[in-house]
Order: sequence, then structure tokens, then C-alpha cells
Amino acid sequence: MSASGTAEKTHVFLSNSPAATLRFGKRLGEKITMGGVIALIGELGCGKTLFTRGLCTGLGVSEKEVNSPTFAFVNEYRGRLPVYHVDLYRIDNIEVGFEIGMLDYLAQAETGVIVLEWAEKVLPLLPEDYLQVQFEVLSPRKRRLEFTGFGERSGALLRGA
Ligand SMILES: Nc1ncnc2c1ncn2[C@@H]1O[C@H](COP(=O)(O)OP(=O)(O)OP(=O)(O)O)[C@@H](O)[C@H]1O
Ligand SMILES: [Mg+2]
Repeated sequence: MSASGTAEKTHVFLSNSPAATLRFGKRLGEKITMGGVIALIGELGCGKTLFTRGLCTGLGVSEKEVNSPTFAFVNEYRGRLPVYHVDLYRIDNIEVGFEIGMLDYLAQAETGVIVLEWAEKVLPLLPEDYLQVQFEVLSPRKRRLEFTGFGERSGALLRGA
């Protein structure tokens, strides 16, 4: 067994369509367990929200409920577990007040699942065990999704994916 916080496993998924990204997210959402932290990284329009929508439907949230938070930076959904959908697009840096709010959400998410768009902005705040998804736009309809499990739990989630 490796030390926590180390990359347990990497998996690459090539998506050929928005539907394929949704489906892959859904599969992962069906398997994810309490305390799961998913860090989404990638440029504008790479598919982070679409993937989150898939993941949430896999957790039993209705698809139409899932949209990027606009006024607040967190949306909460009720699926088989509570889901916290965070979008950090408008956050420039880790400010103290924001950091406290973020830590509250991360603490609450220990009994649910948290998904963060633009997670690179808060990596130092994340727990040691999280699943990172790095998106790359290959063409208008093609995306490369690289999954890295940091820690035991996320590695196990990926092994089952
Ligand atoms: N294979 C694909 N997977 C995901 N999205 C795709 C794919 N091909 C095309 N798209 C399009 O790319 C866009 C992805 O939008 P989405 O809102 O999910 O991106 P995002 O990464 O959340 O953007 P933002 O940074 O603005 O939050 C959608 O318009 C979708 O139809
Ligand atoms: Mg988005």
C-alpha cells in the first residue's frame, strides 16, 4: 500500500461526444461513495459541467437540476447522497473568507460528495484523498479525460471504473 496523497492510479477516457462524457460521468456517479472529492481541471467549455451532470445523475439527482452555480459558488443537490457542486471560475485567489467557506463545504461533504470545477484554484485546501479529472479539448466534439486517483479511496474508485 502506498502512502496517502500519492497518485494511486491513472485512467484515460477519450470522449467522442457530449453524450459519451455524460455517460462516463454517470457510471462514476453510480460507484462513488460517501466522502468522495472530485477535482475537475480544464479550460472553458471542456466539459466540466456536463461531466458533473452525468456524475450527479449517477447519484440519483435529476439531470435538469444540475447547472453551474451562478449567484452562489456552490449548488447542493439531493441524490442518494448530498452532492455539493462548486464552480470556482470567478474566484481569483484563495482569500481568507472564501477559504473558510470552502473548508466548511469540504467538511460537510464528508457525509456526501463534492465536485469542484476549476479545482486547481483550491488544490491546497483539498483533503489528501481526491480524484482529479484533467480535461483536454482535442476537437469540437472530442475530449481527453485523464483521471488520477490520489489516495486509497480514489484509486479504488478508478479501479472499479
Ligand atoms: N465530447 C464532449 N464532451 C463534453 N462536452 C462536449 C464534447 N463535445 C462537445 N462538447 C461541448 O462542449 C461544451 C462543454 O460545456 P460545459 O459547460 O460542460 O464545459 P465547462 O468545462 O463546464 O465550461 P466552463 O469552464 O465554462 O464551466 C458543451 O457545449 C458541449 O456540448
Ligand atoms: Mg462549467
